Amino acid sequence: MKNEIKKVIESAEQTIKSVDSIHALMQLKSKFIGKKSELTSLMKQLGSVSKEERPEIGKILNSAKQKIQQFLQTQEQNIKNAAYNHSLQKDMIDITMPGRKLTKGGLHPITKIFREIEDNFISMGFDIAEAFDVEDEYHNFDALNTPADHPARDLSDTFYVKDDILLRTHTSPVQIRVMEKYKPPIKIIAPGRCYRNDNDASHSPAFHQVEALVVGEGINFADLRDVLNIFVKKMFGDDISSRIRPHFFPFTEPSAEIDIACVNCGGKGCNICKNSGWLELGGAGMVDPNVFDALGIDSEKYTGYAFGMGIDRVAVLKYNIPDMRMLFENDIRFLKQFS
Ligand code: PHE
Repeated sequence: MKNEIKKVIESAEQTIKSVDSIHALMQLKSKFIGKKSELTSLMKQLGSVSKEERPEIGKILNSAKQKIQQFLQTQEQNIKNAAYNHSLQKDMIDITMPGRKLTKGGLHPITKIFREIEDNFISMGFDIAEAFDVEDEYHNFDALNTPADHPARDLSDTFYVKDDILLRTHTSPVQIRVMEKYKPPIKIIAPGRCYRNDNDASHSPAFHQVEALVVGEGINFADLRDVLNIFVKKMFGDDISSRIRPHFFPFTEPSAEIDIACVNCGGKGCNICKNSGWLELGGAGMVDPNVFDALGIDSEKYTGYAFGMGIDRVAVLKYNIPDMRMLFENDIRFLKQFS
C-alpha cells in the first residue's frame, strides 16, 4: 500500500506540473484528490489494514493528500504568474520610442482674416451678425431698394436656386435681417460668403465680404470715414493711404467706393492696379432713408452708415496670392503655407 501511495504522489506531481491552464488543473484536482480518486479509494481501504499498521498508513495517506494539494497550489500560482508575465510582455509600451507625430491643421487664410477683422471691430464695440447664404429676392434686392429691373438681378450675375430664392450676391441682406429684428442703436459687422456668376483670376463665383451697419442718432459720413480709416490701417498698416470716391448703390445715399493705395506699387501704377495706383476694396454709404422707412425705422430720427468690403481681395494682397480662385480649390499644398 505504501508503494501505491508513493506512485500516486509521483504521478500526481508529474501530471500537475505539466498542465498550463487553470481549467486542466481543476480536472487534475478531482482526479487526484476528488471523491473518485485513487487516493480516496486507498483511504477507504484503511479499514482493512492491520491495526498495527493503520496509524502509520493513515499518516502517510494524509500527508500524501497534503502534498498533492501543495502541488496543485504551487502549479496554480505558476500558471497565474505565467499569464501575468505574458500580459506584461504583450502590452509592453516602449516609452523610449519616438511618438507618432500628429499633423496639425491650419486655418484657412480667409478664416484668419475674418478673425482678425472680427477682433478689430469687436474692440470698437461692434457685434457680429450672421444670416443665410441662401436668401430670398426680398432681402437681397427689394428691401435694399434695388428695383426689379436692376441689372444685378439678371441671371448672368446672380445664381438663382428657384423662382425668388437665390445665393446672396452680397452681405447687405444681413443689414435688413438685423434691422428687422433689432431697434437702433445698431452696430454690427457681418462676415460671410457671397456668390456671383463671375469666374476669372480676380473673381471667384464664391467670395467673401464683411458688411458693417451702424444706425443711431446723429451718425454721419465722418463716422463712416473714420471707421474705414481705422479698418484700412489695421489691415494694411499705418502707412497705407486710402480714398473714397462717389459712387452709386441703391441702398445708400450718398454712396462711395473705398480704395487703398496699391500695395504692390505703392501708388505708382502696375499691372495689379491696372496702372491706376489704387485698388478697390468695397462700397459704402449712408443708409438710404427708403430702406429705413420700409422697415419701420424712423428716418427723421435715425441715420446710419454701411459698408461692404471684399475680403478675398485683402487675402490676395496680404499673402501675395496670384489667382483668387486658389482660395477655394482646397489644394493642401496651397493651404499648408498658411498654417
Ligand atoms: N453690397 C455692396 C456690394 O456688394 C457693397 C455695399 C455695402 C455698398 C454696404 C454700400 C453699403 O457691392
